[in-house]
Amino acid sequence: MHWKWMPNLLLGLALLQLLLFSACVEGRRRKRGHQVQLKRQKNREDSLKYLQYETTALRAKFGLKTVSALQIMSASKGNAEVPLGNAYNTEYYGSIKIGSSQTFKILFDTASSNLWVPSVQCPADSCLQLQRYDSSLSSSYVANGSAFEIQYATRNNQATILKGFLSTDTVELAGLSIKGQTFAEITSLPPDVFSRSNFDGIFGLGFQQISIGDVKPPMYNLIEQELISQPTFSFYLNRNNTGSIDSNGGTLLLGPSDPTLYSGCLTYVPLSKVGYWQFTVASIVLGSSNKLCSKCEAIVDVGTSLIVAPRAALQSINAQLGLTEADKRDGVYTLPCSRVSTLPSITFNIGRRDFVLPPASYVVQYKDVCVSGFTSLDDGSAELTDDRGTDYANIWVLGDVFMGPFYMEFDMEYKRVGIAPKI
Ligand SMILES: *[C@@H]1O[C@H](CO)[C@@H](O)[C@H](O)[C@H]1NC(C)=O
Ligand SMILES: *[C@@H]1O[C@H](CO)[C@@H](O)[C@H](O)[C@H]1NC(C)=O
Repeated sequence: MHWKWMPNLLLGLALLQLLLFSACVEGRRRKRGHQVQLKRQKNREDSLKYLQYETTALRAKFGLKTVSALQIMSASKGNAEVPLGNAYNTEYYGSIKIGSSQTFKILFDTASSNLWVPSVQCPADSCLQLQRYDSSLSSSYVANGSAFEIQYATRNNQATILKGFLSTDTVELAGLSIKGQTFAEITSLPPDVFSRSNFDGIFGLGFQQISIGDVKPPMYNLIEQELISQPTFSFYLNRNNTGSIDSNGGTLLLGPSDPTLYSGCLTYVPLSKVGYWQFTVASIVLGSSNKLCSKCEAIVDVGTSLIVAPRAALQSINAQLGLTEADKRDGVYTLPCSRVSTLPSITFNIGRRDFVLPPASYVVQYKDVCVSGFTSLDDGSAELTDDRGTDYANIWVLGDVFMGPFYMEFDMEYKRVGIAPKI
């Protein structure tokens, strides 16, 4: 059985510095050695002309015909930008087109590798309220028909199974057309789970190793079709505590990273296992001394809202934060917002560097409701191992709560993740 979790759906809370061409500057702490003064300042007109030239060349290369001003700017750096929507700091989604004219809102998910959308052949109410793909309206549609099934594990160990079949069509993301992309048309969608969500389907950004049906994930085709100049993508998530849906939810950049969005250098950590974006965190420490784990296995998942911790670690966190079972609502722990500033920070040592989350980052605030950003899937009652032997009981899932303060690059070629503080 293939499955993954999706705690974000179970929350139950209805709830320039223009450093053009600049490399990161690591040297502040370093002794000044041999220094080469680079002359970057061109006269303005020259730079503009250069930019114009580059833009034209890249537009030709990418076949971008109708692009917005924003996309032209991005294309000049060899990347393309997907604007993200942010629902309650728990769901980050964007827009894609399948065929030439059918638009879907999809949730980005780095912990799965398939693209699925509801099918016009799904008659259930759960599908009727969403956009449904209709292959008869697309001239680029190619039938496949193989059965598809994906199972989501829920907090109370109830299985949620989605069923459908595979189809192939052109998928457009950030103005880039991915030809011959195989995806799933969902014909059976359980009620409730997706009913309050702000998206129609899910867009997996994981590796092919965890792709159901071994379907080639969209990012692979995007790279093979040379639609971006470098096989990386990155997320910059905006956080918004007003408890509303924010259309300015940040950015998914396809292609090279944008150094104007982060400070200093990206710190890279190699993946410990390819499939999820999984790596080893040297240590996770709450406050000054509560070491929750060392050599902790973790996956980064933009499709998960909170930080999912192993059971023992969650118990230790809650004890230190003064949270008890009485504070639990719908599987998450609530606390008075007035207490947030008194809570300790949590430090993740990744790639020999400390990444610190202050309480204001790991507590999710919805107006005057505050929710601890830590949860666990493991209530001790079930075995949490999937068919690839991943032991979920001991793994950390670093969701949106973790990603919030950081710019994160996902490098498919060198199989590594890069992290730096956001600007
Ligand atoms: C359907 O797609 C799968 C996954 O890409 C592929 O292995 C299979 O050959 C395709 N089948 C048909 C009939 O095209
Ligand atoms: C939060 O979202 C609302 C609604 O989109 C928007 O008006 C507001 O400016 C956003 N606040 C921040 C801090 O981004």
